[in-house]
Amino acid sequence: MAKKTIPCTVNGKKREYTVDIRSSLSDMLRGQEGLDSIKHGCDVGECGACTVLIDGKPFNSCIYLAVWAEGKTILTLEGLSDKKGAISDIQQAFIDEGAVQCGFCTPGFIMASVPIINSEEPTSRDDIRKQVAGNLCRCTGYEKIINAIEKTQHKRIEEKKAK
Ligand code: FES
Ligand code: FES
Repeated sequence: MAKKTIPCTVNGKKREYTVDIRSSLSDMLRGQEGLDSIKHGCDVGECGACTVLIDGKPFNSCIYLAVWAEGKTILTLEGLSDKKGAISDIQQAFIDEGAVQCGFCTPGFIMASVPIINSEEPTSRDDIRKQVAGNLCRCTGYEKIINAIEKTQHKRIEEKKAK
């Protein structure tokens, strides 16, 4: 089958992957980079478990062709940790709020929430719900997830004001 080499930036590192042109971005990143935070749930763009940021926007990587990632900047959950491997504030908030049970949906929810928690202005709970509506959780209950996202956003806004 036809192959193509894809240069892109993944979690701050410049990379090149040679892929079958039919491969998904999720297969490329899991298979060639070992980024196992990207989950294969439905594989048809309906559950959000495979969400990554591409040039700052959330996408379902299971239905995003790897070849489309040429020249793009990709961020996965692994890229949220600091240089020493400490987890980020949003990951800690999911733990603190009890927003994780089996954890299968968690990386996708967290990546979908990154644009929200980076927002300069508070986002209403309804708008948070809308922005993560493409992500499904079968066990935790959405209130705790929304709480974790909202609290992290408010904390970041307060920290910015204090500077
Ligand atoms: S695995 Fe990609 S949306 Fe479900
Ligand atoms: S924590 Fe289990 S699916 Fe969300």
